[in-house]
Amino acid sequence: MTDPALDAEALRERAVASLITARDRTTLLTSCVDEPELTAQHSPLMSPLVWDLAHIGNQEEQWLLRAVAGHEAIRPEIDGLYDAFEHPRAERPSLPLLPPDEARRYAADVRGRALDVLEAAAFDGTRLTEAGFAFGMIAQHEQQHDETMLITHQLRRGPRALTAPDPEPVPLFTGPSEVLVPGGPFTMGTSDEPWALDNERPAHRREVAPFRIDTTPVTNAAYQAFIADGGYDEPRWWTAEGWAHVRRNAITAPLFWRRDGGQWLRRRFGITEAVPPDEPVLHVCWYEADAYARWAGRRLPTEAEWEKAARYDPAGDRSARYPWGDAEPTPEHANLGQRHLRPAPAGSYPAGESPLGVRQLIGDVWEWTSSDFLPYPGFRAFPYKEYSEVFFGPGHKVLRGGSFAVDAVACRGTFRNWDLPVRRQIFSGFRTARSEEI
Ligand code: AVJ
Ligand code: FE
Repeated sequence: MTDPALDAEALRERAVASLITARDRTTLLTSCVDEPELTAQHSPLMSPLVWDLAHIGNQEEQWLLRAVAGHEAIRPEIDGLYDAFEHPRAERPSLPLLPPDEARRYAADVRGRALDVLEAAAFDGTRLTEAGFAFGMIAQHEQQHDETMLITHQLRRGPRALTAPDPEPVPLFTGPSEVLVPGGPFTMGTSDEPWALDNERPAHRREVAPFRIDTTPVTNAAYQAFIADGGYDEPRWWTAEGWAHVRRNAITAPLFWRRDGGQWLRRRFGITEAVPPDEPVLHVCWYEADAYARWAGRRLPTEAEWEKAARYDPAGDRSARYPWGDAEPTPEHANLGQRHLRPAPAGSYPAGESPLGVRQLIGDVWEWTSSDFLPYPGFRAFPYKEYSEVFFGPGHKVLRGGSFAVDAVACRGTFRNWDLPVRRQIFSGFRTARSEEI
């Protein structure tokens, strides 16, 4: 650990492996449907898959070839097409995008050169290359788009294109329904996780009052009880905005759910199936999560509460990288990486629980928190303002913990995701909390 040459080799290997894992996933997601399906827009909320593919290559070119290695642009005329801020998603199908074969060739060409850059890179000198940051950032960026592409697959109509084994069945979870997290300060965020993104930094102390948090994410069965109790017809459970939103859009159940006589069905990657009662609820927006929590006599956890539940180890009074400690995630710890195309039943992954006994904080479903997406004290945009800074403010709510669709490289105890409170095509669920009377 103390030999810097060894450290550099370990980082280089991790960077190569992360880039390859991401590309294997991208290849799978873009080769399981035919060409017209790659260029089609399956939902006005999403880009055509072929846009994601070339955008992945273009970001890699900009950061690893141009910024790190000083190369000239390979095709400067395409930069604008793949700039997410120049063209909103709804416009992207009408752009003169690279056709599938050209997009594949372009991304592969960039990757070949990027691996040469990585082979020769010294992981010191600039903040961009220190500890292989830029390579880790680009692997995370590709994996984020792999999750986005999986959302497009979920929205797509037509027969199933993807398959994966189901998670192991587990006995119904009978442990305590909530866990007490003691009050007091803890360390939130990080200053030493090498590939942590700008919004996770810097580490800082945060005071958190004692609270109780659900041991597992809220299940479909629990959410069905809210629906059956008239939850969507009762304005007092909803914020004014949330109520207006569900009324205006006639929302009466999670996205992709349909009622068939006495039972709830859902559409999942091209198949229709009964909604499984013990699985964490998926495809709910922030307004729905917030209303459910109020109906249950509880509330959403704040972002700081979520992170304390996930990282705080009372034994050492320190914050770990993950609920189970500092070790990288394995399939025993969490449902990540599109290994399964659904969340695992509530109570799964005992090896992944936190020191206080909270389960499934990492993987399965992104968890809505009550918090707005805001910078930590001492935040500095790096390396570009358009990753986080332009989204800070009350318009976006924070989600934590990652879903079954996100790879481990883009998921950790400090990782912050955010979205609009109306979003529900994302792989979002939640758990609830309550303040401890003192
Ligand atoms: C962090 C998931 C909100 O997909 O909009 C991808 C990640 N940023 N390309 C998004 C991202 C630029 C981002 N989220
Ligand atoms: Fe992007």
